[in-house]
Amino acid sequence: YFLGIDLGTSAVKCILVAEDGSVAGSHSEEYPLLQPHPGWAEQHPEDWWNQSAACIRGLLAKTGIPAAQVAGVGLSGQMHGSVFLDEELKVVRPALLWCDQRTEAECTWIEETIGKQRLGELTGNKALTGFTAPKAVWLKRNEPELFERTRHLILPKDYVRLHLTGKLGMDVADASGTLLLNVAKRAWSQEVADALGIPFEWLPPLYESNDIAGHLLPEAAEATGLAAGTPVVAGGGDQACGAVGVGVVKKGIASVALGTSGVVFVHDEECHMDSEFRLHSFCHGVPGKWHRMGVMLSAGGSFQWWRNQFGYEELEKAAKEGRDAYEYLTALAETAPIGSEGLLFLPYLTGERTPHPDPRARGAFIGLNLRHTKAHLTRAVLEGITFGLRDSLELMKESSVEISELRVNGGGARSPFWRQMIADIFGYPVVTVNSTDGPAYGAAVMAASGVLNRDISTLCEEWIRVEHRTEPNPDNSARYEAYYKLYRSMYPTLRDSFH
Ligand code: XUL
Repeated sequence: YFLGIDLGTSAVKCILVAEDGSVAGSHSEEYPLLQPHPGWAEQHPEDWWNQSAACIRGLLAKTGIPAAQVAGVGLSGQMHGSVFLDEELKVVRPALLWCDQRTEAECTWIEETIGKQRLGELTGNKALTGFTAPKAVWLKRNEPELFERTRHLILPKDYVRLHLTGKLGMDVADASGTLLLNVAKRAWSQEVADALGIPFEWLPPLYESNDIAGHLLPEAAEATGLAAGTPVVAGGGDQACGAVGVGVVKKGIASVALGTSGVVFVHDEECHMDSEFRLHSFCHGVPGKWHRMGVMLSAGGSFQWWRNQFGYEELEKAAKEGRDAYEYLTALAETAPIGSEGLLFLPYLTGERTPHPDPRARGAFIGLNLRHTKAHLTRAVLEGITFGLRDSLELMKESSVEISELRVNGGGARSPFWRQMIADIFGYPVVTVNSTDGPAYGAAVMAASGVLNRDISTLCEEWIRVEHRTEPNPDNSARYEAYYKLYRSMYPTLRDSFH
């Protein structure tokens, strides 16, 4: 068996995958998200480790699989978070997460200092508030004594691997989200680190995702119930792992991940960069390959907000019947017509990244009238999220990315109604695959690849099968098109009122 660990933003999920690719069991443990100021988001790395250990113990107990049968471990995790460690490898302060928006001033400074073009050429990206390097600059400016104590900078899942193996390290896929990696060369950029005043020695050894990056320590064996000496691969950020987990490992296949964030992701054989660096260009979790992606900050997050604030009837009904409130809400949305009778929703509840890199962007309902019911509003939320994701697809089309199929994954992929909406709005067939465990599954694939010395793409071919295919309906596509044009005009119109 191979253990895949996905260190998410609200919980850690662990799965065990057998040698034929089937999932033997899964388990999950939560931890709190700290929001000490509006727009800030932090977590305690110790919570990640304690809950990961508890999660592995829980999974072994649940499945009854003996530790000796776990042949390897792979890690996936929320990207970009800054874990600052001192000389003794102790955490210096809570980690700043991918969704933390405090670094606007630092991002402006970084782009002025290095130059947007040069920064883009080196790192494949813009300076975005969620990325890691701006967080280190923030620490230097705002908590200089903690900056002085820092000796190492790693990402969330690397902290769990540090506890498992005693070794510092990072894979190039996750490292791509730090803004300190030369993405084309798959190596740290001394030029960027020097320009930003981030000590180069802080940066850990780099790996490909399926490289074995350490072996389980006896104390970690004790804490997790796994066997000492078990190999642990480097793993990847949750987007790269999620893409591997649904088989997005060759040209032509793209994915749409509908989690809290929403991501449109394509595999690249070479390193491609958008001329204005509007898409993220990152190393893939497949050795020697790259990918591009557009990231919407609140995709499922917007729908979750809607459910929590206005879905009380559905939540109550779901609790009584042991079902999921989202099912009732999507069924309600389905009763409203395409375009929600002219009602538009902007999903920028926590600012946005692609295509509007703007931490101050905000959500909106536009065009409300007295005929609109909760059904229209609910449908507008789903349509707004999907239109926003289409913006990323448009950027890919502009760079002539070839796409033949979209694989949807994440919580939102469960809804046939939403899948049809994506197919109609994107104009591509949308498929779901048999592996529904997302990033944790990708991490297990990486572990299997490293331990068995087999290609990630071969394993994906053997293990991952298409299950449902949804074709776009041309009539629906044509009707959505008019609303999409309107949607696109809204951010530029409203931008000034957000600032
Ligand atoms: C990707 C990103 C998010 C987090 C969510 O760039 O910021 O998808 O990785 O966990």
